[in-house]
Amino acid sequence: MSYAIVYSSRTGNTAQLAKAIGEALPREECLCFGAPEPKALEAETVFVGFWTDKGSCDETVAGFLESLTNQRVFLFGTAGFGGAPAYFEQILGRVRQHLGPEVQVVGTFMCQGKMPQAVRDRYEAMEDGPRRTAMLENFDKALSHPDDQDLAQLKAAAEKVR
Ligand SMILES: Cc1cc2nc3c(=O)[nH]c(=O)nc-3n(C[C@H](O)[C@H](O)[C@H](O)COP(=O)(O)O)c2cc1C
Repeated sequence: MSYAIVYSSRTGNTAQLAKAIGEALPREECLCFGAPEPKALEAETVFVGFWTDKGSCDETVAGFLESLTNQRVFLFGTAGFGGAPAYFEQILGRVRQHLGPEVQVVGTFMCQGKMPQAVRDRYEAMEDGPRRTAMLENFDKALSHPDDQDLAQLKAAAEKVR
């Protein structure tokens, strides 16, 4: 199976996932690894990684997904908020809207990804209350992600689809 791993990552979380997939799959079958590029469209299976921006994939990835035609696709991504699998499903639902009808989604994976300290500073400046507490708790929970368990789960899922 030929495959490509393309992704967008501003602060490195999604890049960590991309690297883990690369480690799990045979290197000789990899057509390309890195930023989304047309070469990736030649692969049978395309692993596409995104960071969550306003509840969906970032724009670079959205544009790339729209250029896919009939490939098999594995979507992977990171989001600052986690905890509820339903939240990830909601994001993935929006991401899938960028895919044409002939594209087959063969797998998905999402996990939390740490956010910059500036985000915590903003939460700290919020008025005290349950919302502020929840935001701070979520921020701190995200700090360790992607963790070893996230990466192991992703590797297993990637190996399964090849
Ligand atoms: C401009 C911006 C918008 C974001 N929007 C969301 C969002 O809507 N939902 C969410 O869960 N995380 C959001 N995040 C958090 C990132 O998706 C998260 O930290 C992700 O792991 C970053 O991945 P990267 O390190 O690969 O860039 C946002 C981050 C930025 C910078």
